[in-house]
Amino acid sequence: MSAVMMPGGPVADAVFADLGPRIEKLKADGRTPGLATVLIGDDEPSARYVAMKMRKATELGCHSPHVHLPGDVTTSEVIEAVHRLNDDDAVDAMLVQYPGPPHIDFDAVLMAVDPDKDVDGLHPTNVGRLALGLPGPVSCTPAGIEAILTHYGVPVAGRHVVIVGRGVTIGRPLSILLSQKRPTANAAVTVVHTGVPDWADHARRADILVAAAGVPGMIQPEHVRPGAVVVGAGVRYEGRTLLPDVDEACEEVAGWITPRVGGVGPTTIAMLFRNLVEAAERRAGLS
Ligand SMILES: NC(=O)c1ccc[n+]([C@@H]2O[C@H](COP(=O)([O-])OP(=O)(O)OC[C@H]3O[C@@H](n4cnc5c(N)ncnc54)[C@H](OP(=O)(O)O)[C@@H]3O)[C@@H](O)[C@H]2O)c1
Repeated sequence: MSAVMMPGGPVADAVFADLGPRIEKLKADGRTPGLATVLIGDDEPSARYVAMKMRKATELGCHSPHVHLPGDVTTSEVIEAVHRLNDDDAVDAMLVQYPGPPHIDFDAVLMAVDPDKDVDGLHPTNVGRLALGLPGPVSCTPAGIEAILTHYGVPVAGRHVVIVGRGVTIGRPLSILLSQKRPTANAAVTVVHTGVPDWADHARRADILVAAAGVPGMIQPEHVRPGAVVVGAGVRYEGRTLLPDVDEACEEVAGWITPRVGGVGPTTIAMLFRNLVEAAERRAGLS
């Protein structure tokens, strides 16, 4: 039996369809949403990601001011650039593309971002808001995963979600998000990591298994309960080749699965723009 595919594209399209009129309303009020991007150095994949986000911003009719800093810039100089964007009224949200040069203290840079302009939802204030169930930008990949499950009618409430990985971008925020008391969440969540030698036993008990480790091919068919839902978020790049955590053979065991390409990625981008529009609406007093 082959699993039902859950591509992220249609989910992202639905999010953008919802954002379109909201962006038009902001523009009509003279408050065109502005997403600032900061790129440090010339790392090719980082430059590609930033260019893609700027293209999407333009396509949606948003401003996309860009700051490109040389690779030998200091952490203090990056923080100064962030402070200028914090103070710029035309900027509703920003991202500092990661990874960058190893000498940059990215934690310090993230701390300098105004939490209300933190489009990635990774500032400690926003992680705290998420933990407390307060409104604010939610980390984009976890929000996209919840959107995928909702879009395809996968019940989450009351079910057992096992997340492989406790990283700050996916595993940890997703565990908080899916355990919240809301109709599209409300799950029993288990998080496994390198400190859990029998992680595979936990994985096999999952109704919904989320791979967020960044270890190519880690999730094999024997880790999936027949008929379970499998979401592949973890990936590693070798050059331009994308290597997902979830092995292709899992498609023969799972009931529902995200495709290895075009799964979680498109919804991550869509949620970034949802965070931008929500930030612009908050600043305009519309929400
Ligand atoms: N698809 C997307 O749009 C998207 C967006 C962002 C990130 N990603 C990808 O998602 C992955 C996770 O990112 P992240 O930043 O959340 O996490 P991360 O910081 O890369 O951490 C990886 C997590 O996986 C766990 N892990 C690694 N190897 C393991 C193993 N053999 N057994 C059990 N657990 C293992 C680690 O455990 P320990 O904590 O014990 O070390 C850690 O908690 C990365 O591959 C990243 O590239 C994808």
